[in-house]
Amino acid sequence: MDGQSELLEYCKTILKQNDLGGWTRPAAHLYPHQWLWDSCFTAIGLRHYNVKRAQKEVNNLFRGQWKNGMLPNTIMSPSDTSGKRLWRSEVSKNAPKDVSTSGITQPPMVAEAVTRVGEKMSKIDRRVWYKKLAPKLVAYHEWLYRERDPHGEGIVILLHPWESGLDNTPAWMQELYLNEMPLWIKTIKTFKLDSFFNLVRSDTKYLPAYQRIDTVDALSLYSIARQLRRKKYETRLMLRHGHLAIEDLGFNSMLIRANSLLVQICEEAKFEIPSWLITRFKKAHTSLDLLWSEEDAQYYSRNFETFELIEQPSIMTFLPLYAGSISKQKALKLVELLRTKDYWLPYPVPSVPKSSKFFDESRYWQGPTWLNTNWLIIDGLRRYGFDDEANAIEQRSMSLVSQKGSSEYFSPIDGTPAGATNFSWTAALTIDLLYTSSKL
Ligand code: GLC
Repeated sequence: MDGQSELLEYCKTILKQNDLGGWTRPAAHLYPHQWLWDSCFTAIGLRHYNVKRAQKEVNNLFRGQWKNGMLPNTIMSPSDTSGKRLWRSEVSKNAPKDVSTSGITQPPMVAEAVTRVGEKMSKIDRRVWYKKLAPKLVAYHEWLYRERDPHGEGIVILLHPWESGLDNTPAWMQELYLNEMPLWIKTIKTFKLDSFFNLVRSDTKYLPAYQRIDTVDALSLYSIARQLRRKKYETRLMLRHGHLAIEDLGFNSMLIRANSLLVQICEEAKFEIPSWLITRFKKAHTSLDLLWSEEDAQYYSRNFETFELIEQPSIMTFLPLYAGSISKQKALKLVELLRTKDYWLPYPVPSVPKSSKFFDESRYWQGPTWLNTNWLIIDGLRRYGFDDEANAIEQRSMSLVSQKGSSEYFSPIDGTPAGATNFSWTAALTIDLLYTSSKL
């Protein structure tokens, strides 16, 4: 693609293709449902040229909200029954009656999407919209801190790697290998029987297996989903049975940011946040300190049961910049790390550093560069005044999409596109970068 406006039109076409009437699928075939953080990113792109449609994208996420406040990571499309069969959300008394959803959540990007869409509305319209959404958003954050922060530390736990949005990210995979993998899956791994299971996977019908999550890892993820279903998606029951729980660095970073945006939304809507929740937000604001390793000068996720940091670096390492709650000194340390040859590759930022034993330039969240994490890092870098780094990542992200198309992810080494084609958040966030970098 030659010019910026051609790139913009191309990205808009992709969002149109994936528009299923009020909500957007991430991509054809592979991702037929509405996903939580995907729709947030999509709305952030749409707001630049169709605010009403952007609002609808967000509103439709609340179709899936559970009675206890949880926003599920997927709301199933009626035309595809695979997700419905796996999750059977009706086993929980909290699940909505008229749509089928998953039983887990995903990174809390909703307050960000609401704020960014709100920026494009008139003050009056915005207030009306915020009044409608504020109670629902507060209910979601209440659920997160009530059910997922059992120690009241201001750090929430996740019970499934899919909740992190970074399905096979090293920290989670390491903990799965150590703790959670059922015997039958270990047997498959030991005897290398995974090629048989590969035949029954649906994603590898559309994409080469080397670009996807490893089959044994995928089997473990499905097995955890079934365990959660057996416990009717009750956090308490899962913890009582020693289920793996991780204080995920990326998720908590996004939540800290979301808390402060939620406070602003509620101020404008004149909606009162319960005082216990405000106290928890304050705790959350400094909670990342608990995840800092002085020795390695970086943050990690932490195992909830052992309290041990999971020393597996990944793209999450940089998300505290997006949280905006860390000190300038620590932000500087992260930027120094970002500039090393482990991360500052031709197409930054890789989802796993190059020297990690997990690094694989084509495999999902174990090496490739993704537009959404780049977008979060760019935002965080700007907030701390690291404009040069932010501009460089922004330029390379836009040129990747312009040269290689709106793919799900890309090799950080030579930009080879991988994963689904015509992927919604890649297109939507490119639109946002094009507008906000004032290239248009
Ligand atoms: C994959 C990604 C997840 C995303 C979903 C839909 O599962 O890991 O983050 O939300 O696809 O695009």
